[in-house]
Amino acid sequence: SGVEQLGNMIAEAACIVPFTGAGISTECGIPDFRSPGGLWTRNRPIAFDEFVSSADARAEAWRRRFAMEETFAAAKPGRGHRALASLYKAGKTPAIITQNIDNLHQASGFRTDDVVELHGNTTYARCIGCGHAYDLPWVKARFEETGSAPDCSLCEEPVKTATISFGQAMPEDAMRRATELSQQCDLFLAIGSSLVVWPAAGFPLMAKNCGAKLVIINNEPTEQDDVADLVIRHDIGEALGPFVGN
Ligand code: OAD
Ligand code: ZN
Repeated sequence: SGVEQLGNMIAEAACIVPFTGAGISTECGIPDFRSPGGLWTRNRPIAFDEFVSSADARAEAWRRRFAMEETFAAAKPGRGHRALASLYKAGKTPAIITQNIDNLHQASGFRTDDVVELHGNTTYARCIGCGHAYDLPWVKARFEETGSAPDCSLCEEPVKTATISFGQAMPEDAMRRATELSQQCDLFLAIGSSLVVWPAAGFPLMAKNCGAKLVIINNEPTEQDDVADLVIRHDIGEALGPFVGN
């Protein structure tokens, strides 16, 4: 089966780079974006320039974030996260590239430095001007006190979750590190992503073009199934459960 073949590929590989999307966290209770019931089927994304130019958009963005607070706070790593953490512990995986913002790879045992977050992190906030970090309770208290989204106490620019919105510049360090990892690995695992959002979706292709084997694990077809060496069209928890170590 696909899972058995994946086991052989993992055993033979010297450097495995996992690349994850929202599908790895759905079993943890966090909705993805494009499946039925996904976030973008319910709400239109708020683009970065809207957030910057409109106080209403900022308030709406923060209302949405606070509405998800219980979901993010309660989420624990799933079988997919734990299987990847086992590969990391075993020294087969130097680091992980993720589009996810939920902090669950760190929670599963990856060092913060070894989680390459292409789209940032929603568990804290940053000033979009000076980059100063704020915790979410600080934002929430200000929001409830004034009825509007807070600005930075240092430079008065808007404070936003530390995530990347459409139209916002990609984080340079993460892009550089993801490029190196994609070029160096001999096995690239694209897990739980529709692979429609660029530039993130360029990394599986980059790895493949640099000679790595490409495995796609996703329960629906993706944009890149035709170039993969192995496609496991299956539930991630089921597919990766056998690789969860102790
Ligand atoms: P998507 O929602 O586009 O894709 C998630 C994929 O995971 C879908 O193809 C699902 O069918 C699949 N899936 C969900 N649960 C699964 C499970 N238990 N087992 C197997 N497959 C499962 O999410 P991403 O590809 O991560 O960016 O989205 C990419 C980017 O679009 C996000 O990082 C976010 C979003 O807009 C920004 O906001 C910048
Ligand atoms: Zn600031």
